[in-house]
Amino acid sequence: MYRTHSCGELRASHINSEVTLAGWVQKSRDKGFMIWVDLRDRYGITQLIFDEERTSLDLLESARKLGREFVIQVTGTVIERQSKNPNIPTGDVEVLVKKLTVLNEAKLPPFTIEDETDGGEDLRMKYRYLDIRRNPVKEKLLFRHKVAMEVRKYLSDQGFAEVETPYLIKSTPEGARDFVVPSRMNEGQFYALPQSPQTFKQLLMVGGMDKYFQIVKCFRDEDLRADRQPEFTQIDCEMAFVDQEDILNTFEGLTRHLLKELKGIEIGEFPRMQYDDAMRLYGNDKPDIRFGMQFGELNEVTKHRDFNVFNNAELVVGIAVPGAASFTRKEIDQLIDWVKRPQVGALGMVYVKCNEDGSFKSSVDKFYDQEDLAKWAEKTGAKVGDLICILSGQTDKTRTQLSALRMEMAERLGLRKSDEFAPLWVVDFPLLEWDEETERYHAMHHPFTSPKPEQISLLETEPGKVKANAYDLVLNGNEIGGGSIRIHDKKVQAMMFDYLGFTPQEAKEQFGFLMDAFEYGAPPHGGIAFGFDRLVAILGGQETIRDYIAFPKNNSGRDVMIDAPSKLDDEQLKELNIGLDISK
Ligand code: AMO
Repeated sequence: MYRTHSCGELRASHINSEVTLAGWVQKSRDKGFMIWVDLRDRYGITQLIFDEERTSLDLLESARKLGREFVIQVTGTVIERQSKNPNIPTGDVEVLVKKLTVLNEAKLPPFTIEDETDGGEDLRMKYRYLDIRRNPVKEKLLFRHKVAMEVRKYLSDQGFAEVETPYLIKSTPEGARDFVVPSRMNEGQFYALPQSPQTFKQLLMVGGMDKYFQIVKCFRDEDLRADRQPEFTQIDCEMAFVDQEDILNTFEGLTRHLLKELKGIEIGEFPRMQYDDAMRLYGNDKPDIRFGMQFGELNEVTKHRDFNVFNNAELVVGIAVPGAASFTRKEIDQLIDWVKRPQVGALGMVYVKCNEDGSFKSSVDKFYDQEDLAKWAEKTGAKVGDLICILSGQTDKTRTQLSALRMEMAERLGLRKSDEFAPLWVVDFPLLEWDEETERYHAMHHPFTSPKPEQISLLETEPGKVKANAYDLVLNGNEIGGGSIRIHDKKVQAMMFDYLGFTPQEAKEQFGFLMDAFEYGAPPHGGIAFGFDRLVAILGGQETIRDYIAFPKNNSGRDVMIDAPSKLDDEQLKELNIGLDISK
């Protein structure tokens, strides 16, 4: 037996018992005749004491040779500590060591394995296994496990069955590029790794599984950001014989369960917002509703003067930043520079200070009088002490820019509180999205999403206006899930492929298997997939998903620890029938 207890277990009630512990040496203090060693494992830290008088000189000498991160096993007696440490659960006791075995020596780690480490991000990623020994990282992984357990428990209790779907498949259209895997046995042919199990879960519905879920890896070759990884995990779900309302209720239930069990927070019914309203009021399809600063459109109350910047703009829109009227000229100039950065891309910003005495001071006083500015304040909901920030230009771009400014201001003013949770359903997404590059409509969600049945006829005349039975679940300004009611009728699906520019031949080649399945009694069905990494990170109070993944990729999609991706040797390339020159 390697150990009788873990390093987080011993308390005053264990005093005088004989114990064996195993773990890593966190650090040691040498007083000459006495040595203390902090022994660490996943469960905590226990102080060991080596004492010349009470044990032996030999043992003291062996303890002196222990280095950081050596793996050791000790046997000894639990004794009361002289000076207790109230900061750790084992702080009342220490173990007077009688026997020490070094199970494995360790090189000096490249950074300190403590809560506050001296290691930079790159170094910690290269030695991720050492980083995982640190509490902040370890706790995030254990939290992830807890969330997964609660998800499984809740969904199983609701009658969902977890079914695995294959990873070596054919391309699924989720809008990113595929990662592909060459087939040795089928020369010149490739599998694609799933961007999601979308088509398989629909086939499971045709197969009568009724309620499916899976905590599953998905793979997308897309540009990476703090909330995106090339391989990530979904809680993928599908249900048969349901309408949108059933799905929203079921997964609102799951989210509520997680908030209650993991954060101790009880939230009532989740608000719902139409996509069009989200765009109009927040410039964003995933609004953070923990704070206000709703958009106020100002075209009507600006166009009667000679200010051409506004008069020529498709949209003039502002937000009232609470308490920011006190910003100095310099601070406002910095804000203007911030919106003009290429990442945001505004040409400039007009501002109005709502002074304490009820008057207004704006950057366009030459064109607008106090009465005009009072109307702007009304439209943006500005109060005394607020700063109204106004952007103008082409509608979509201006909304995106003001949304970025809104989030930035909320961040600066500390309004994005990580212990506050504001879920929101965004519903009635457009079915199609115009793509400037290809000059074609794309499915906004994916090609299996059902148009609102009453709007199918609009597809002929105004395709851009057709709404879908599609919804996103937003939590604190992050899209944590998305789904839709699916098309289950072969004819409607064929029509959708046609609108999306697939020839019947292409549709058959890519999705023939699904179309065929629809000939054999497909039930009405729909579903959703949660971004599991995102959900866990947000519940954990952060937005960077990398911290919640045991072995994440960096921003260039590399695993710097195992050094992947990497070249293949000629032999392997030959076997796969891939042109040898690729390796050069
Ligand atoms: P969607 O593409 O919206 O829907 O994905 C569902 C959720 O997965 C998360 N997500 C990601 N998380 C981390 N890294 C990524 N690269 C990444 N991409 C997506 C998001 C997102 O909301 N098959 C459909 C679901 C359905 O219709 O049922 C789908 O995959 O949180």
